[in-house]
Amino acid sequence: MHISGWTPASWRHKPIRQVPAYPDDTALAAAESRLAGYPPLVFAGEARRLRTALALAAEGRTFVLQGGDCAESFADFNANSVRDTFRVLLQMAVVLTFGATVPVVKIGRMAGQFAKPRSSDSETIDGQTLPSYRGDIINGPEFTPSARIPDPARMEHAYFQSAGRLNLLRAFAGGGYADLHQVHRWNLDFVARSPLAARYQDLATRIDETLGFMAACGIGSANTTQIRETEFYTSHECLLLPYEQALTRVDSTSGDWYCCSAHFLWVGDRTRQPDGAHVEFLRGVKNPIGLKVGPTTTIDDLLRLIDILSPQNEPGRLTLISRMGAEQVRTHLAPLMRAVNREGRNVAWLCDPMHGNTISTAAQVKTRSFDSILAEVRAFFDICADCGTRPGGVHVEMTGQPVTECVGGAHRLTEADLASRYETFCDPRLNAEQSLELSFLVAEELKARRLAA
Ligand code: PEP
Ligand code: CO
Repeated sequence: MHISGWTPASWRHKPIRQVPAYPDDTALAAAESRLAGYPPLVFAGEARRLRTALALAAEGRTFVLQGGDCAESFADFNANSVRDTFRVLLQMAVVLTFGATVPVVKIGRMAGQFAKPRSSDSETIDGQTLPSYRGDIINGPEFTPSARIPDPARMEHAYFQSAGRLNLLRAFAGGGYADLHQVHRWNLDFVARSPLAARYQDLATRIDETLGFMAACGIGSANTTQIRETEFYTSHECLLLPYEQALTRVDSTSGDWYCCSAHFLWVGDRTRQPDGAHVEFLRGVKNPIGLKVGPTTTIDDLLRLIDILSPQNEPGRLTLISRMGAEQVRTHLAPLMRAVNREGRNVAWLCDPMHGNTISTAAQVKTRSFDSILAEVRAFFDICADCGTRPGGVHVEMTGQPVTECVGGAHRLTEADLASRYETFCDPRLNAEQSLELSFLVAEELKARRLAA
């Protein structure tokens, strides 16, 4: 379909923020043109299926679990890291599905989450100032002048790594790993030693009993795809537009443009200017898209952005991802939610309880407290209930590894513990155990509220 004034390149005429200063335009153009000839990573039909699932989330008939790294890393490209994050997402999903009796839409911040917006263009350490690290698709994390120069060859590297990661995710999702009969085996060693182990084992046992009953009724892996396989979608922040443009293609079945680097793309809180390049780019692709909604978002801005990004008001097209922070969410979110409802805009609302809750310790380490994360999720549920909005899901930064980046949780990680396994390239993530704990708490909240409603 023709979208007025839009082409995959029309963003180039708009004001843009967070752009890397590539030193060599010719090399950049050459990398873009090679990428434009490579196969798409996802198929438009998959993005349409996700849009349908997201439309149901807005009605409370599905619940979205979106999670993964803050920034994926080229160095961390191996089967274990992909598998472990996928496995925790499966565990979390099963806790939510079983605990709250709602189908869960699983979306990874995976297989393409390589570009990072930064609050500052430069970073100073011991008197030396260098350009900020902007994610592996742009420059390197090492604090050296050469690593910090944006390199267009990194876009192709990101493409091939995304393809490798996505291939493994597809294999796990469809090849038997995600079969519900494996629910006991998804348990990771370190979670098995945690205070949550018994709870998870108990749930897994109940699922096994249910599956046994269903098998006796003739429903099992052999004849039921929903038991044998899972649907898993990928997503990332739509930040590095030369890369996203190169992967934008016309879908031959519908004639529409899709950005085929991932199923779902979102515009970040720093790049959501209504007249800016990132919003311009996303308005023209047919994927389901997200918009981060932070504490500086005004009602006027939000309604204008919704009109630009979802002019047809189609259910499932636009997901608003609230990231206010535990302290601000109670005052800031309700007026926005009410305005959206009053204006009859069809959107799903997710809660990102991570990005508004980043703090610095006395030792200048970035962390987030599990209690604030939980407080924001609970407040989000309360506000949804007050506004008559169905909570559509959660968006979290997490990993399958036993990292120590966020404080609190069942093991009561303290600031002193952060040093032992602090591995993130950007923001602090929930570790596997904290992620699972969060999913139990979210399932309880959802269930209680569903019963109340
Ligand atoms: C992110 O999701 O990694 C991010 C940078 O979020 P926000 O744009 O909400 O700050
Ligand atoms: Co982040």
